[in-house]
Amino acid sequence: MTEYSIIPRPASVCCLTGSFECPGIPNIAFDSVSDFNNEARVFADQMRDFGQMAGSAVIKLIKDDMPLEAYRLKIDADGVSIRAATGAGAYHGLQTLRQLILSCYDNGVLKIPCGVIEDYPRFPWRGYMLDCSRNFFSTNFIKRMIDALSLHHVNIFHWHLTDDQGWRLPVNGLPKLTETGAFRREYRHEDRLTGGFYTEDDIRDIVTFAAARHIDVVPEIDFPGHASAILAAYPSLGCTGGPYHVEDRFGVFHDVLCAGNDAVFDFAASVFDSVVRLFPSQFVHIGGDEVPSTRWAKCPKCGQRVAKLGLSNHAGLQSWMTSRFASMLKEYGKTVLAWDEVLENTEKFPLPENLIVMSWRGREGGSKAALMGHRVIMTPNNEGCYLDYKNADELEEPGRLSVNTLFQSWSLNLIGQNLNNDAAQFVLGGQGNLWTELIYAGKIAEYMTFPRICALAEAFWSNDKSKNFEEFKLRLAVHQARLDKLGILQYREI
Ligand code: ACM
Ligand code: ZN
Repeated sequence: MTEYSIIPRPASVCCLTGSFECPGIPNIAFDSVSDFNNEARVFADQMRDFGQMAGSAVIKLIKDDMPLEAYRLKIDADGVSIRAATGAGAYHGLQTLRQLILSCYDNGVLKIPCGVIEDYPRFPWRGYMLDCSRNFFSTNFIKRMIDALSLHHVNIFHWHLTDDQGWRLPVNGLPKLTETGAFRREYRHEDRLTGGFYTEDDIRDIVTFAAARHIDVVPEIDFPGHASAILAAYPSLGCTGGPYHVEDRFGVFHDVLCAGNDAVFDFAASVFDSVVRLFPSQFVHIGGDEVPSTRWAKCPKCGQRVAKLGLSNHAGLQSWMTSRFASMLKEYGKTVLAWDEVLENTEKFPLPENLIVMSWRGREGGSKAALMGHRVIMTPNNEGCYLDYKNADELEEPGRLSVNTLFQSWSLNLIGQNLNNDAAQFVLGGQGNLWTELIYAGKIAEYMTFPRICALAEAFWSNDKSKNFEEFKLRLAVHQARLDKLGILQYREI
């Protein structure tokens, strides 16, 4: 298995004698009847960035009958072939081949040992979240990250676009969201602003780039908490009316969207209109995390709402808002995700049917939701999924709040013991999250992401019957040299 040192670990690897040798990087067979020309084109771009093309067409992409996303990569002395049923399968096969090329190309010669890799994913949702609100990241950086994620068969880019520290999405009819809401005071320079937003063209560019790599871009609009940037732009949407500012501290803030103000739903309608127009994904994440009800409890409009709805407490307003946001998006045929807080105070307004729960405060919320028959994504902060935590408990390491070692990420088991087989079927997969309060540069984001995402990708993709950390580390040493060749800055265990 370590022979090829592929990450995530393939379902099966069979080594044969001999090797495939090629001066330079082999060309890929384009052919007018191929179903996989789009995948071939992306692969050719990836190779062009890396080395010389040799010119003779030796990589064949063949459509075959097999499960979705599965592939069969065969390396023969006289050529390389990839069989798959879908573009996603072909792309995953090409990324495994890309890994081999990155580690078997030396001095202008490629030499890959012969063998057969048969592979398919364990979970359909293999996600990575980047917080682009706390700090703003360029489209070029995001594309580079997406490309590197796809090397590991990650297939979801969860784009955290709004939070207290900045709103990044252009919305028709709400210009102040990006004029005012996209900029905060620089933490370290009181007189300077920092931030930015993505134009519609930027967003389309990223979505298209990701789709070509079989990554679905799932936007997150965080409602009704983490709303300081919204309130700074449109103060009438808060309970007190302000004044508010785009936050330059981090934490959880009392000012949230006013649940008693109908204009909040007009606002949400405009936002969702942009979201639906710009993001073809079936999924929209509506946030829902860390929503204090302190302002609601003192607000006359929220008080009237509580009375009218017959709620027993103000906190219950969140479940009502969640239901409304979910039904607005359902009109567009979207499937809604939210953080696990939406499971709380749902006596009067139960969790909307079909809502997918993203379990971050450990796996408890996800387990509870799965037992209720809701689909869930596991991204427990205490089990290796929070990439903003330090790699090691050392002053020298960047990160905050806690420590998340490579071993923890590698050990993640998405199906905990408390889930029976029926409930386990509702676990769609997992996700690594990079919150960026302290990550003000793309290079630091890379360092926090790699190689922990490699370990997580293995937990999402590979079957863990014979998990062995020492064996993983042997493969990882080869793999980190590949990431070096891609110019990715990464943490290394000493
Ligand atoms: C979260 O970490 N607040 C979802
Ligand atoms: Zn209010």
